[in-house]
Amino acid sequence: MEKMVIKGGTPLRGEVPVSGAKNAALPAMCAALLTEDELTLHRVPALRDIRTTKQLLIQLGVQLDDLTPGTVRIRAREISDHTAPYELVKTMRASVLVLGPLMARAGIANVSLPGGCAIGARPIDQHLKGLEAMGAAIELRSGYVEARANRLKGTDFTFDLITVTGTENLIMAASLAKGTTVLRNCAMEPEVDGVIDLLNSMGAAIQRESYDTIVIEGKDSLHAAVHTVIADRIEAGTHLIAAAITRGDVLVTGCDTSHLVSLLEKLEEAGLNVEVGQDRVRVTSNGRIRSRDVETNPYPGFATDFQAQYMALVSLADSRCTITETVFENRFMHVQELVRMGADIRISGRSATVRGVQKLSGAQVQATDLRASACLILAGLAAEGVTEIHRVYHLDRGYERIEEKLVRLGADIRREKDELL
Ligand code: EPZ
Repeated sequence: MEKMVIKGGTPLRGEVPVSGAKNAALPAMCAALLTEDELTLHRVPALRDIRTTKQLLIQLGVQLDDLTPGTVRIRAREISDHTAPYELVKTMRASVLVLGPLMARAGIANVSLPGGCAIGARPIDQHLKGLEAMGAAIELRSGYVEARANRLKGTDFTFDLITVTGTENLIMAASLAKGTTVLRNCAMEPEVDGVIDLLNSMGAAIQRESYDTIVIEGKDSLHAAVHTVIADRIEAGTHLIAAAITRGDVLVTGCDTSHLVSLLEKLEEAGLNVEVGQDRVRVTSNGRIRSRDVETNPYPGFATDFQAQYMALVSLADSRCTITETVFENRFMHVQELVRMGADIRISGRSATVRGVQKLSGAQVQATDLRASACLILAGLAAEGVTEIHRVYHLDRGYERIEEKLVRLGADIRREKDELL
C-alpha cells in the first residue's frame, strides 16, 4: 500500500492541464461492445478504474490495444463471455455499464450486483426497471443480475430518480433496440452527452428532445468510430479549489468551462477571483475565504463530486456555512478526517455545518473514497505541518498522477510506501 505525504503551507502557482474524464471514458469503453467494428478513443486517462474496465472487457472477449498514452483501440468482433464477475464489480461499480451494451448486442448479461460502497447503497433498480421495460427478463440469482432478451424493443420509460449511469446504460441498450425509445427524467451530466455524441458517431440516432428527455431510434447495428473523451470537470474543479485553499494563483487548461458554471459561481461567492476562458480558468485568492452554503444536486446543480473538496475549502473560511448532500446518503466520510486536522464540522442528517477555523494542522488521516481522498489532499496542502494520507489507492481511481501535477504547481507532496498498512 502507498501513502501520500504532504507538507502544507505553500500557495500553488502555475498552469495545470486537465486529463480526460474518468466518468466519460468508462461508458465510452463499454460502448465498444455495441459494434463488431473498431472503436478508437483518445484522451483516456491512466487511472485504476480504466485499467479495471480494460480487464473486464478483455474477459468478455474484446480485443483491446493501447496505441499511445491516452489512446485505446477496442474491437468487440465477437463477445465470448457475458459475465461481469463479483471480484471486478465490487472494486468498481461502474462495471455495471456493460449491462446495457451486452443486452443490446447479445441479449444476454450476467452482471454481479455492485453492492454498496463507502458513500451509499447505490442500487441499480432503475437500470433494471428500464431494461425490463425494453422487454428484458431479469432474474436476481446469487448476487448476480441474469438478464435475457431476444431483442430489446423500444419503450417510453420515465426514471423514478435521476441516475447518471442508469441513463447511460439505457441509452446504450436502446441504440440497438427494435423501434424508438423515449427516456424521461434523464440525467443531464456532460458525461451523458459524451455517450450520446459517441454513439451518434457510431451511427446511432439519439437526441435530447428537451433538457431531460432523450429519444433513441434503434438501429440494427453500429459501426466504427474515433472519439475524444471530454475533459474531466471534476479534476479541473479540484485543482481550482486547490488554488483557492492555498491562497495561490493557478490556471487550469484543457477544460470545458461550460461544465463548471455552478462551481465557478460558488468560488466567486466565496471571494475568489475567477477568470474564465473557453477552455481555461484562472483562480487567484486575496487570502480571504467567505463561508457560503451549498447544496449538491444533479447537473447543472453543484456536483456531489465537488462536495468533499468544497468542505475542505470552507473549513478555513471566515464564518459558518451549511453543506447539504442530496445525492448520496453517506457522503460525509471525510468529515471525521478533517476534524482530526482541526476543522470544526458537525453533521446532522444530510447536512454538515462547517465553522471556519484559523488553521488546519497536519495529521495522519485515512482516505475512504475517491473524492474524500481529494478533500484530504487539499486540506493537507493548506495545513500547517505534515499530513499523511493512507489508503491512497482510492485517489488513484480518479486522478491521473495528481502528485506530479501538484508538484509542478509548487506543492510539497510525495508518494511513499505505507509501512502502517
Ligand atoms: C455517477 O455515479 C458517477 N460515476 C459518480 O461519480 C457521481 O458521483 C454520480 O454519478 C452522481 O453524479 C460514474 O459516472 C462512473 P447515480 P452513479 O446513479 O451513476 C441512486 C466519482 O466520484 N440510484 O447518478 O452510480 C443512487 O443510490 C463517482 O467519480 C438509485 O437509487 O450515480 C444515488 O443516491 C462517485 N437507483 C443517486 O441515485 C438506481 O438505479 C444518484 O446515483 C441508480 C441510482
